[in-house]
Amino acid sequence: MSENLRELISAAKTAFEQASDLDQFKSARLSHLGDKSPIALANRELSQLAPTDRAARGQEINSVKSEIAAMAQSREEELTRERDERILIEERVDVTLPTRVSQRGGLHPLTLLRDDICDLFVGLGYEVAEGPELESEWLNFDALNIPADHPARTMQDTFFIEPLTTKLVLRTHTSPVQVRTMLDRKPPIYVICPGRTFRSDELDATHTPVFNQVEGLVIDEHITMAHLKGTLDHFATAMFGEGINTRLRPSFFPFTEPSAEVDIRCFVCRGESKECRTCKGEGWVEWGGCGMVNPKVLIACGIDINRNSGFAFGMGLERTLMFRHGITDMREIVEGDVRFTAQFGVGR
Ligand code: DAH
Repeated sequence: MSENLRELISAAKTAFEQASDLDQFKSARLSHLGDKSPIALANRELSQLAPTDRAARGQEINSVKSEIAAMAQSREEELTRERDERILIEERVDVTLPTRVSQRGGLHPLTLLRDDICDLFVGLGYEVAEGPELESEWLNFDALNIPADHPARTMQDTFFIEPLTTKLVLRTHTSPVQVRTMLDRKPPIYVICPGRTFRSDELDATHTPVFNQVEGLVIDEHITMAHLKGTLDHFATAMFGEGINTRLRPSFFPFTEPSAEVDIRCFVCRGESKECRTCKGEGWVEWGGCGMVNPKVLIACGIDINRNSGFAFGMGLERTLMFRHGITDMREIVEGDVRFTAQFGVGR
């Protein structure tokens, strides 16, 4: 066998041994056995030899080639075995480790309460109505008979949207949904309207600039304040338990006439303690506002006031949640700490 063929074997042997992983080995095999390798070249040069020399040289080349191929195969097997052993160690899974307990997510207590209230009223035949949080000044104020010089319409109370010529505000209450509903459909109307509302208050134990209200509106024939009172009593009992009814206290809202504040029986002392800290011995706590829809509002919304009348009410959801669960600081509701939320049966 010629010297240079023998050298090809030892060069390939060294290269295969030096390859320390399968990637390096693949390139070594390409250099020593591939189409452009010296052995392939030698094979191609056979045609240039005299026919008499060709057979012997051909046999030599073939035996060198099979020797290199055999070395390649055994080195590849060796490297594959090493790799498999390494993977087995590196990717070992300890099946005896305890599993990680993952917390289930859930709905915020305000969302749960909103859904409960909607369910209650849907059960009474109401529909759920919603409106935009970015509301026109006309729907938020004018259509509700709140005049331009009303204190609620000052910068201290309302978030106005720039440029002011857009005449848009972040709605300060859910009452504009009443107007939208009346403009949109004909009586009989029975709707419950939950939603987010905004006022430029600082966040403290009893105020938050972003809060939630739920508004009720009924427009039908022969609707009286007795229907309003019965509805509110039913609502209060469903929210706060048997025996918690409501009391109406004369008040004023531009969009209702007559208007009243809705008080509920004190859910702590039930009116039986002069020392009660919740109601300060009054026996009642304020819950929301209500009244018979002002005919001016009905007319602005195209309702025939000779045929129809109606009532409306509006409550704060945060306040309702605080009453129901004895929460004394509104910031707990706003901040979204899961340790607070988890107490309300998340993921219901
Ligand atoms: N919109 C009033 C507020 O935010 C609450 C209210 C009072 C709503 C009386 C009503 C109502 O529908 O009749 O203070």
